[in-house]
This record gives sequence, structure tokens and C-alpha cells, in this order.
Amino acid sequence: MPGIVIVGAQWGDEGKGKITDLLAERADAVVRFQGGNNAGHTIVRDGVQWKLHLIPSGILHKDTLCVIGNGVVIDPRVLTDELDELRRQRVDTRQLRISANAHLIMPYHMMLDHAGEAKLGKLQIGTTRRGIGPCYADKAARLGIRVQDLLDEKILKKKIIAALEPKRLSLRPFAKDPRLDLQTITEEYLTYGHRLAPYIADTVRLVHERLDAGQTVVFEGAQGALLDIDHGTYPFVTSSNPVAGAACVGAGVGPKDIDEIWGVMKAYGTRVGAGPFPTELDGELADEIRERGGEYGTTTGRARRVGWLDLVALRYAARINSLTALAVMKLDVLSGLDQLCVCTRYRDPGPEGREYEDFPYHQTVLHHAAGEYVQLAGWSEELTECREESDLPAAAREYLQFVAEFVGVPVALIGVGPGRDEVIWTQAGAGMARAGRAASAAA
Ligand code: IMP
Repeated sequence: MPGIVIVGAQWGDEGKGKITDLLAERADAVVRFQGGNNAGHTIVRDGVQWKLHLIPSGILHKDTLCVIGNGVVIDPRVLTDELDELRRQRVDTRQLRISANAHLIMPYHMMLDHAGEAKLGKLQIGTTRRGIGPCYADKAARLGIRVQDLLDEKILKKKIIAALEPKRLSLRPFAKDPRLDLQTITEEYLTYGHRLAPYIADTVRLVHERLDAGQTVVFEGAQGALLDIDHGTYPFVTSSNPVAGAACVGAGVGPKDIDEIWGVMKAYGTRVGAGPFPTELDGELADEIRERGGEYGTTTGRARRVGWLDLVALRYAARINSLTALAVMKLDVLSGLDQLCVCTRYRDPGPEGREYEDFPYHQTVLHHAAGEYVQLAGWSEELTECREESDLPAAAREYLQFVAEFVGVPVALIGVGPGRDEVIWTQAGAGMARAGRAASAAA
């Protein structure tokens, strides 16, 4: 089973880092394929918490090749800080490779992200202000600076001049900011270039070598399907494609190289930033779930919006990603609630009350839609000690079964606590994990 893609099936923050960490143990390579340091992965290992934004979680396994693919946008300051922190904790980072074609987040991208949001006022997207959107915009406009440009001073300077030229007007409020000085930027980025040079590589070739040898490669997505720039709740989305198809583009492989696609989801819903969220909760129940689930952003520390599980959106995510398995995280957070609601369709609150079984293509509908719910029994038991499906209370098993049947995708893995061991591999998952190991061993 050589190619496994891991994607977020909701609005991001589903726990992809933990799943990648678990699968990385069985994999020969882990490749990040989109997004940037707007993402944040928290992994808890042996009581130590790791917060990674750019480097794939596979870095904690010393024999796993870790790739930052061409589809990622890299803030080199964040990347070098992450490398320093890993080294400080005595993690060997020699197996990291960075695509020479990945684009760089420049100081002006962050300024433009801030300024853009300020200008939008009430209509703002609620971005992470990490410069992600402006960097992808430059990439599309062919004004981007790539990792390989760090290795050539003359080219770097020329490209920065070209990139700054059309931004003069929008950057006027920052005219006196020393971070915008051409010489300062060039020198700063050349220093990053020296630091990163040993890691820069033709990552497409490295990934293909592993796939050709029948080894297991995990493609790690960031954010989630509903934040996808094409398929999500535009414009309240990120500026890349977090769906599985982007693994091909962002890593340089073809669709035939992908064998499994795991959708990571939480047992309930969360969203950060603005935009429609039909199953959103407020009041005490939302606060309770937020506190129990520690629903505060890894990157920005923002309190996440919380809601019931939206199965209409999840089934849509399953379709646009061709999910082959679900990993349901944070099931333990729901313990103690008498009744659980899952949204199985939307209703327009207007006089006609039109119902929607499918995720509506029109944004206005989604903005006004209210969730229609099926109520399922809750459970009072704590789940953290459960390691087999049979250890779970009957109501928890029924909850998972309802989700799997509605979405039409089997549950492979269940998260019952923050630690990497606090998971249950189901029948479907255990089979896949074994296959992954066998494929690697046979190669
Ligand atoms: P940007 O990606 O910083 O441009 O932000 C665009 C939208 O995506 C905002 O609503 C962010 O809150 C959201 N977003 C970006 N990255 C993440 C993530 O890793 N988890 C959850 N939301 C995210």
C-alpha cells in the first residue's frame, strides 16, 4: 500500500498531525503538500507536547524521510525556528528535504495579509495573518520567490524588485517599515538560504524513488475540505486546495500513486475564522465542548467555534476527496452529554423551508441554512482507557456506526485522548495498518 493521503474532512484542526505521526511509524516518507504555517500540528509523545507548523510530524521518526513539497508556502523564519527547536530537543533533522520549487512567504506577504483583513473590516475572512493568501497570489501571478532563489543572490534581488513593484500602492502604509528595505530583505533571505541549503532537494525524484521501490509514502494535508479554495465556503477559505487531489500537484505524483485516502474528522464540529457554520452551537454547551476539547488554535490561540457534527458537509468532503477511511478524533470529548445531535440535512429558514440533503452549491443558502438533526443517545463513561472497539459503550459504537453508514466510509481509527497511544484501531484500520507494514517489509 504505497500512497496514503491524509486530509482534513471538516474545517481544519481535526487532528491530522496525530494520525500522520501514527502512520509515519509505518511509512518510509511523509510529504506535506499544501498550506503553510497557517497550520499547526500538536503531537503528544511520552508526555512531551510538540507543536509543528511546517515540518511534517514524521520528523519524530528518525528513519522517515520528511518532505516539504512544492505545493507548500514556506516562511523561512518559521522553518529555521522549528529546526532550532527540534535540534534543541535532540531530534535528528537530517532526514528533512525541502522542495526547491516551494514558494516563500516574504515580509510583504504578511503586511498585505494584515492590511487586506483590516480593509475588509466586518467582512474579513479571519485569516491567520501569516501571509498565506498573498504568497499564493504571487505564485499565481508568477511573481513568487521560490526556495531555489535563495541560492542565487542576483536572481533573488531581481525577483524581489519585480514582486515589490506592483505592490507599491498597497504597501504605502508600510513605506517606513525597515523590513521592506530591499537590502535588508535580500540579506535576511540569503542567510536563510545558507541555513536551508543542505535540505533543499529535488523532492519529486525522492518521492518517486520510494514509490517505485514499493515503499509507503504518507501525503499529509493541512486545513480541511471545507476551507478548500475551490470546494469550500469561498471566500471564507484558505488560498490552497486541502483536498486529496492536491496531494498529486503539491508533491509531484499522479493519481495512480495514491492507494488510500484517510479523512480525519472530529466527533463534533469546529471552525476558526469567519464564514458559514450551519451546526454552530453557542452558550454553555459550546463552552463545555470547547473547554473539554481544548479548542483553541495551535497557531493563533484563537477560541474555535464549536458545533454538532455536520454529516451533510462530511458526506460532501468524502465525495470530493474519494475518502477510503475515516479517522474519528476526540470521541472522548463527548462523554457526559445525555443526547448527541448529528446534522443530516439543512433547512432554509424562509417561508418555503426548502430542505437540502446535499451540501448547497450556493453560498447564500449555506449562510442561512439551519441544521436538521437526528438525536442519538450519549454516554457517561470516560473513553480514554478504551483500546478496542468492544471497550466502548454501546452508545458510542452506535454513534460511530451512524456516521460511517451515513457517509458511506468505514471508520479506521478512533481517537479517545490526546496521547499517541490513546487510539482504537478498528477492524478496517488494523487491516490497512498491517498492509502498510507488509508492503514496506516486502520492498
Ligand atoms: P489563511 O489560511 O491564513 O489565509 O486563513 C483563511 C481561513 O482559513 C481562516 O478562516 C483561517 O482561520 C482558516 N485556517 C487556515 N489554516 C487553518 C488551520 O490550520 N486550521 C483551521 N483553520 C485554518
